[in-house]
Amino acid sequence: MQSKKVAPFKAGGVVEPPFFVGREQELRTLVKNAQNLTQNSVIIGPRRYGKSSLLHNIKIRIEANSDIIVPMINCREMSNLNDFCDITIGTILKSYEKRHRLKGLFSSFHRVLHDKILNGFKAVSEIGGSVERIGEFYLKFREKEIPEEELVRQTFEFIHNFIEEKNLQMVIVYDEFQKTDTFNGFLYELFKSSMDRENKVKYFFSGSSLSLLKRVFLRENSPLYLMTSKHFMRPLIDEIVTKFVIHRFETQRLSIEEKSDLLFHELTGGIPFYIQKLGLLCWEQTLIEEKTKITSSLVLNAFKKMLEELDGEFEARIISRFSDQQRKIIKSFSQSKSLRMVEIAKAMDCKTSDISSAMSRLVNAMVLGKDKEGNYYLIDEVFRRWLSSQI
Ligand SMILES: Nc1ncnc2c1ncn2[C@@H]1O[C@H](COP(=O)(O)OP(=O)(O)O)[C@@H](O)[C@H]1O
Ligand SMILES: [Mg+2]
Repeated sequence: MQSKKVAPFKAGGVVEPPFFVGREQELRTLVKNAQNLTQNSVIIGPRRYGKSSLLHNIKIRIEANSDIIVPMINCREMSNLNDFCDITIGTILKSYEKRHRLKGLFSSFHRVLHDKILNGFKAVSEIGGSVERIGEFYLKFREKEIPEEELVRQTFEFIHNFIEEKNLQMVIVYDEFQKTDTFNGFLYELFKSSMDRENKVKYFFSGSSLSLLKRVFLRENSPLYLMTSKHFMRPLIDEIVTKFVIHRFETQRLSIEEKSDLLFHELTGGIPFYIQKLGLLCWEQTLIEEKTKITSSLVLNAFKKMLEELDGEFEARIISRFSDQQRKIIKSFSQSKSLRMVEIAKAMDCKTSDISSAMSRLVNAMVLGKDKEGNYYLIDEVFRRWLSSQI
C-alpha cells in the first residue's frame, strides 16, 4: 500500500515545530523576559521573517511552563481605538476561558457589543466584577454618554481589575502593532501608565516598520521611550536552512543532491516564508515527476514557478507603494545585491544629496537594509530576483 503523502513544508500562517526552526536565541531571551515578568519587548522585522510564528512559539512555551496567560492580539483588523478596546478585552477573555476551560465570559462581553442594550446589561450583570464594570462603560459608550478616549482608559482599567480579581499574570502580545500608528497617540501614554503600574502584566509588541520603532519606542519624547527591550528579526542562517530542508524532505523519503540544498538559502536570502514555499513547490514537482531526488534543476524550476506565483504581488508592490525616484533606486538593485549610495546616485545620474531622503525612507519602511560597511541591500531577496527577471 502506498503511504500517505504529507506536505513536508508549510507556507503561510503561524508554524510550530517541526515546521518551525531556529530562532533559539530569541526564544530563550523572550521567554525568559516573559516568564520573569521583567521586560516589555518589541520585535521588529520585515514581513514574512516569522514574527507571528516566533510570538506563537513564545506563547506555547510560556503557557506550558507557567500559569502566565498570553493573549495574542492582532492589530491588523483594527481601524480605530474602539476596535482596539473590543479586540483587547475579547482576546483576554477568550485566553482566560481557554486556560481555565470556562465558558460564558466572552459571550457575555460580546452581547454588550452587539446585542440590544438591555440584553447586554443583563448578560454582564449576571457575571459581575470586572466584566460587569467594563460592560457598563461599553453600554454608556454605545449610548454616547462617554467618549472613545474614556473607553480606552477603561480598557486598561479592565486589564488591571481582571488580573487582580482572578489573581493572574499575563503577557499581552500585540502583533502588527504598526497598525496603531494612525490612532490617537494618547494610547501610548496609557500603555506607559499601565507598564508603570502593573507588576503582573508585561507587553510584547511586534511590527514591520522601523519608523514605528523609531517614533514610538526610540524617540525621547515618546511615552514608551526606554520602556521595552528591542529585538530585530534576521533571516535564517544558511546552516539552519540547509539542515531544515534536508530534514523536511527526508520525512517524505526524498533525498537532495549535494549543493542543491544550498540553493534554498541562496535563492531566498534565508527568509522563512520563501524557504517553505520553495520547499513546497519542489515537493509538488517530485510528485508530478515521480522523483525521489531533489536536483538543482528541480529547485531552480520550482523557484521560477514561485516567482510566477508572486508576480501579481510584486507587480502591485512596485507600482503602488513607491514614488518614481524610490522605484528607480529599488530597480538599481536588480543587478547587484549590495550598493553604496554613491553608486546608486551615479547610476541615476544625480547627486547623493538628491536621493538621501528617499533612501532613508526606504530604510525606515524596511525595504532597504544597510550593512555595517554602509552598503545598502534589498531586504526581500526574492523580490530582488524577481526584479532581475523582469529585465
Ligand atoms: N522559524 C521558522 N521556521 C520555519 N519557517 C518559518 C519560521 N517562521 C516563519 N516561517 C515561515 O514563514 C511564514 C510566515 O511566517 P509569519 O510568522 O507569519 O511571518 P511574519 O509574521 O513575520 O510576517 C510561515 O507560514 C512559515 O512558512
Ligand atoms: Mg505576522
